[in-house]
Amino acid sequence: MSRMNSIRCHVVDLVKRPTASFWMKSSVRSTLACATLLLATLATGPYTAAQTTKPDSARHSNQARHPSNTELADSKIEARVDRLLRQMTLEEKIGQLVQYNDTGDTALAQTPEAQPRAAKAGALAAVNPEAAQHVNAMQLAATGRLGSMLNTIGAQRTNTYQHMAVEQSRLHIPLLFGADVIHGFRTIYPVPLGLAASFDPALVAAVSHMAAAEATTAGVRWFYSPMVDISRDARWGRSTEGAGEDPYLGSAMARAYIRGYQGDDLSKPGNVAASVKHFAAYGAAEAGREYNTTDMSEITLRQIYLPPYKAAVEAGAATIMSAFNSLNGVPASANPFLLSKILRGEWDFNGFVVSDYTAVMELINHGIALDPATATRKAITAGVDVDMMSHFYDAELPGLIRSGQVSIDVVDEAVRRVLRVKFATGLFEHPYAEGVEVTAAVAAHRPLVRKAAEESFVLLQNSKLDGGAPLLPLSPERKRVAVIGPLADNTGEMVGAWGGAGTDHDIVTLRQALEERARQVGGTLLYAKGTAIDDASSAGFAEAVQAAAGADVVVLALGESSSMSGEGGSRSKLDLPGNQQQLLEAVVATGKPVVLLVFSGRPLVLDWAAQHVAAIMEVWFPGTEAGHALANVLYGDVSPSGKLPMSFPRTVGQEPLYYNQFPTGRPPVGIDLSKPPSGDERFHSRYLDVPNDALFPFGYGLSYTNFSYLDVKVSKTSIPLPQALKNRSTPLVEATATVTNSGSRAATEIVQCYVRNLGASIEQPVRSLKGFERITLAPGESKQISFPLSFNELSFFNQESKPTIEATHYTVWIGGSSLADQKASFEVVSSTGPAKLH
Ligand code: BGC
Repeated sequence: MSRMNSIRCHVVDLVKRPTASFWMKSSVRSTLACATLLLATLATGPYTAAQTTKPDSARHSNQARHPSNTELADSKIEARVDRLLRQMTLEEKIGQLVQYNDTGDTALAQTPEAQPRAAKAGALAAVNPEAAQHVNAMQLAATGRLGSMLNTIGAQRTNTYQHMAVEQSRLHIPLLFGADVIHGFRTIYPVPLGLAASFDPALVAAVSHMAAAEATTAGVRWFYSPMVDISRDARWGRSTEGAGEDPYLGSAMARAYIRGYQGDDLSKPGNVAASVKHFAAYGAAEAGREYNTTDMSEITLRQIYLPPYKAAVEAGAATIMSAFNSLNGVPASANPFLLSKILRGEWDFNGFVVSDYTAVMELINHGIALDPATATRKAITAGVDVDMMSHFYDAELPGLIRSGQVSIDVVDEAVRRVLRVKFATGLFEHPYAEGVEVTAAVAAHRPLVRKAAEESFVLLQNSKLDGGAPLLPLSPERKRVAVIGPLADNTGEMVGAWGGAGTDHDIVTLRQALEERARQVGGTLLYAKGTAIDDASSAGFAEAVQAAAGADVVVLALGESSSMSGEGGSRSKLDLPGNQQQLLEAVVATGKPVVLLVFSGRPLVLDWAAQHVAAIMEVWFPGTEAGHALANVLYGDVSPSGKLPMSFPRTVGQEPLYYNQFPTGRPPVGIDLSKPPSGDERFHSRYLDVPNDALFPFGYGLSYTNFSYLDVKVSKTSIPLPQALKNRSTPLVEATATVTNSGSRAATEIVQCYVRNLGASIEQPVRSLKGFERITLAPGESKQISFPLSFNELSFFNQESKPTIEATHYTVWIGGSSLADQKASFEVVSSTGPAKLH
């Protein structure tokens, strides 16, 4: 079983399988080459005698000028934190800073369900800190030496641990239960990359809130979400968990998730604390290889990678997860520049930071610590408050404090941060799971996740057949429909990499939904699987070709398995896995009109399909209502409106590929890049064998109608520099356009505004998204759309890493993709004269 599948099953099974969380991470752990060394060096008696200290209120982060979360800065909470901290022993303090999976519940560990998995435990114990150190979470909870638990879900399970903490521990401090609820708990919506294609923050907030409401009934009060890592490289499997390549869209999505999870009051039933991850720049992993190094200029870091984290912090995110990767040589989980200077110092973040899973331990593999004590010291002094699963903080902090290598103030401050979140979430008043536990997809939530899926689909191609109408939406005249492919009737794969606790029997597949339709309208549905997702056997091809040949239209459901993306899901190839390309070619060869639905957690290479298939739609992993949403869009009940959040390359060799590139000194302007260069044409920034651009670029997506753009204008053509620098929040200029639905159906368009800044002291991208809006227009209807552009949209980071505006020239495009061609321009002028463009 792949890790991603095991995660999902693990979460599902947790209610009955106590050891499941142990297994969830087994593949990660088995890759930790240093583990044996670490275990040998771990202290055997991690807990020291009680030690009380006075809290040092002088340095705690709530004294930040503008605390990022006002609920956490509440003085009543602070008074409670002070009181509690004064009573805590050192052991109890350190306890708040450690997090484990569920272990130690012997009754449940002996259930038959646990046995098959437990058989492998011997082998894994060697690399599993929790098992090898005999961590007994139940006992730790009962003695006040455990602060939080991960991926422990279910009212019964969480309550069992919570009773230990609240009733048996000396100070009765409740546990915080965190879980990877990434795109739904029981009712599953599209993977975050798909959700980002909706460009619909209100929708994202709504589904996130729905997930929080479901999960809190199972005791979960903290989500390890949103993942806001910018991803410019489709090889990186975790692209599926974020909002793609653009910082502006990524920031809008980040804010929406926080709003959805936390609401306006962390303590309200149904709200959860968010954990923004993975801080920072994890998405820039070199070569798209998972957990790999990231290395970049500070300007790129601040301008491209940091904005979504910052947006989430400004929206009040209660916690942040530090990343696995190193950034410019310093691992993110021991990185004072990121965690202290930027996060606390510049952004006034007053929540707590949790490490990623065993990230503190991994500092040894990174080579910046030779032993657990050094790793612990580096992590906590850099700003990692909670150690997820390394078993380092509880083992090492007592000694480090005794020897004076870590000040008790540092520990106190970390504990304060954790306690503030516990008070603010109302855990002390309501420690147990409340309400009727949600154990299956909720019928009342299906319309919302269906809408989310419909909005996530991106129509990439829709050719006219024989000069007539485009193939989509499907005409009811095409009564015999063949639905073919390994993803056509595959419940397990519809939920994507982190399908929460969604279960297969809740899923509606494409085949089921098309059958329902065929029954309603009197058509015939033919089905053939054709092949498996990743297989070499063509045994099923003949049946598939036969079904296609006997149909009026073919809907082909091809793509990746959900485990091919997500954590540990990097790929060096971006084509259809296994022999699906051959199946596609065999079906197309029948001459029947083909609609290709691409299921994937990332951009794939679809060059052959783009040349030979009439209609192509990217559908990601749509979730519980996959089939109904697909049928609704295929038949035109809903027009597709999604736009790509990541560029789709022509070939994997173009990666990393993103629209907001720098221009270079030799842009290939006016050269036909589809042909090999002749003469001097080679001396440009280009490839010999493929055009530079994406096959389907960022922001691109078709509709069943057409939208036209006219009258792109700016409200001013000249802005004085002092004014631009002074007014940091009010709009400096407004860009407008008139958008018209020039087709014959009502539909939704995502209007996008891009800006280019020319003449600045630092090279700027060829264009950058600076605004978007979803609008729905009736046939023939027009609407004027405006985008206010203020300092935030017009500034860039200079050599001193400060955001600024210079006397420069700006071009603004408004249109339906990053290829928008209607433009206007304005200048920022200094007192010494206008920007010199020529
Ligand atoms: C992942 C995180 C996740 C954590 C807890 C890690 O391996 O990188 O995204 O939240 O595990 O499951």
